[in-house]
Amino acid sequence: MHLTKEEEKLLHSEDQTIRKSMEILLALGEIFDADKLIEVKSVQISGISYQNIGDPGLEWFESLSGRFAVRAMINPAGMDLKRWREMGIDEGFYRKQIRIIKALLKLGAEQTLTCTPYYFDPPSLGDHVAWAESNAVVYANSILGARTNRESGISALAAGIIGKTPNYGLHLDENRKPTILVDVKAEIENEAQISLLGYKIGEKIADEVPYFRFRRKLSEDWLKLLGASLAAKGNTALFHVENQTPEWDRFSIDGLEKLEVDKIEVKMEAEKCDPDLIALGCPHLSEEELEHLLNLIKDKGKVKKDFWVFTSRKLVEKMSDLVSKIEKCGIKVFSDTCMVVSPATENYECVMVNSGKALTYLPKLRKVDVRFGSMRECVELAFD
Ligand code: F3S
Repeated sequence: MHLTKEEEKLLHSEDQTIRKSMEILLALGEIFDADKLIEVKSVQISGISYQNIGDPGLEWFESLSGRFAVRAMINPAGMDLKRWREMGIDEGFYRKQIRIIKALLKLGAEQTLTCTPYYFDPPSLGDHVAWAESNAVVYANSILGARTNRESGISALAAGIIGKTPNYGLHLDENRKPTILVDVKAEIENEAQISLLGYKIGEKIADEVPYFRFRRKLSEDWLKLLGASLAAKGNTALFHVENQTPEWDRFSIDGLEKLEVDKIEVKMEAEKCDPDLIALGCPHLSEEELEHLLNLIKDKGKVKKDFWVFTSRKLVEKMSDLVSKIEKCGIKVFSDTCMVVSPATENYECVMVNSGKALTYLPKLRKVDVRFGSMRECVELAFD
């Protein structure tokens, strides 16, 4: 990979964080045969929950120095920063998680703590970014038409320090072509079904760039859920949707292998367990999803089960009236964290979700059983 004189200097910098960041980018560039480094507009760093990275991760973050060269955003942490006690988080965990966040803020990161950074000042069509959270990567590439590879937390951080990333993968036109046509003839009736569709297709077509043909226009929330499931199950980082996503007509689909989705069962998973927690917000809920939830719970009284909702702190602040109305019925709306990266979920045995991504990761990471259903079904069960 060609380095400019300036980049060569950074590679030999006396500042260890700069030098290591350049070494990481150079190694990645060489592995993937990048020709050069390109500038990025922003980075998004995942893997910051103390639950997932422990003391080694904490010490590594605290060993870093310097400042990010571009806008740097961070993924959810292991707890709500204000209401961690309500989640059942102990003080030892809280303190260590705060140290991780402080170390990142010292480098100049914004305290976003959300996996939906695309709701706030999103990148535009053709912008290069280096994002790590998988649902944000697939959203940026597919729905916004921005360009990012699926970074690790470390490579996103290195890109943030240098302000550049190696030019390979989805930064290049040729890798953004669809590689399989998915013709969805099945009727999709609710958000859980689109999420489950992504889950099932993801299992079948790992590492492809699918081109979807649907019989109806999908909302951005549905596209978000589809992408999150595809990314969790199939490593998908980009998909196209006919007549919808910004790059759908840039490439020919002639001769693509075709998958007909009426042959895949698009239905709810069998009822596996009796939920003691209902958890929505994977990925973090949008304004429209919060409004939909409020409509569903109207006049229903008080919840009879623990019911947690996750969204970004910015949305909680922006929609404080709506959030208070949701909380009046006993639902807790948490920020800065989620059911997958917080250890708090381990206090439960069976968690009900409407997200294919949560369905993928909760059993593995939080060792809980999972029941799957739509937001409407979650609400019905909670007030039953
Ligand atoms: Fe976001 Fe947590 Fe799901 S980070 S995409 S809510 S696993």
